Amino acid sequence: MKIVVVGLQWGDEGKGKVVSHFSRKFDWIVRYSGGSNAGHTVHMDGKKYVNHLLPCVDPRGKSKGYLGPGMVLNLERLVNEIESLERIFPGISKRFYLDLNATLVLSWHIVEDELIENMRMNPIGTTKNGIGPAYKDKVSRDGIKLYHLFDESSLSSKLEELYHLKTRFFGENLEKPESLKRRLLEDLEKLGTMGVKFTTTMDMRKEFEGSKILFEGSQGVLLDVNFGTYPYVTSSSCTSWGIFEGFQFLKIDETIGVFKAYVTRVGNGPFPTEMEDQLEDTIRRKGMEYGATTGRPRRIGWLDLPALRYSIISSNVSELVLTKADVLNGLDRLKICTQYEVEGELKEIPTTPEDFEKAKPVYREIDGWKDLKDGKFEEFVRMVETELRIKINYVSYGPGSDEIFER
Ligand code: IMP
Repeated sequence: MKIVVVGLQWGDEGKGKVVSHFSRKFDWIVRYSGGSNAGHTVHMDGKKYVNHLLPCVDPRGKSKGYLGPGMVLNLERLVNEIESLERIFPGISKRFYLDLNATLVLSWHIVEDELIENMRMNPIGTTKNGIGPAYKDKVSRDGIKLYHLFDESSLSSKLEELYHLKTRFFGENLEKPESLKRRLLEDLEKLGTMGVKFTTTMDMRKEFEGSKILFEGSQGVLLDVNFGTYPYVTSSSCTSWGIFEGFQFLKIDETIGVFKAYVTRVGNGPFPTEMEDQLEDTIRRKGMEYGATTGRPRRIGWLDLPALRYSIISSNVSELVLTKADVLNGLDRLKICTQYEVEGELKEIPTTPEDFEKAKPVYREIDGWKDLKDGKFEEFVRMVETELRIKINYVSYGPGSDEIFER
């Protein structure tokens, strides 16, 4: 059994919680894209922790975590994250494997992210974790890969060369290559001492073919670099398609899409159903809608069905998990966007990133529900299923990893 779990909106749909709920049934939980820009919050046995780089393995089970070749890794943050998790769940570090082909996020990338964002006339609102610049260097063939750390002399010359390029654009104030190299090698040693393993998907091919795997998407489909609301996106693949970076040899059985009963977005960019009244603030507080990585308040909008239809197609989603409907408990009426009006034309599904920019939402108003046992809630779920032509198999009703029921 191989499944992919993706977020269908602009991230923060509650994937971390959904993944940790299912994780005990799987041998491997695999992150295949992104880096420390992600923030997957997990509540388990009264403990709360946020994974930024680590896959959401269930600490009570035996599943192992794999950080795939499509990821960008900030080793210092990774060491800190594993150390914090180890304090809560001793012995857990030995369950993590890093792919040697993953690209490294260097201190230079974080400086570059900040500088470029400040220079942009239309900032993207990045998390300033150096994600874009690290992917940019990877694609322009100047990136440093995890395997480079295992050959010290070639590492030195690679860092020297990249430093030479970077200082031409970003000035001499960057960390010196010698210091950066020393810190990278220290972090590598710490990871080794903690029992983290280094390998590749080629080496792991037989193991993966015979295992149950859950691929954990990061961010959401609408932040995908190819299919999202470009340019207001992240720099990696957030759809299920992203697993083809390294895991092409596996056949996927199912893709589960996770979506919230409303939508949120951190950072800039089109957001057709954004609320602009006091309700936005109420929902933000009740749903604790603040960025898990940056603490920024999230923008809040009504449920957007055209965007969901678009994401379902982009990721070939076969079943759905609805989250955070409990946050809307007690509202008298709510709005659901069923279509976009784009330059006078009605659209069920947007077809270009520009459609999101130009969309005027067409709303249907429905009765709210008191709680999730209220018949009005079931009516809402059925209406969404009919509109999306796909079943909502699970409803999550709280932050705890066990607070989820099957329909
Ligand atoms: P970057 O990934 O830091 O370059 O940021 C690009 C855009 O993606 C910004 O709008 C960020 O707020 C957004 N973003 C990145 N990671 C996440 C996430 O995990 N959840 C929600 N938004 C994210």
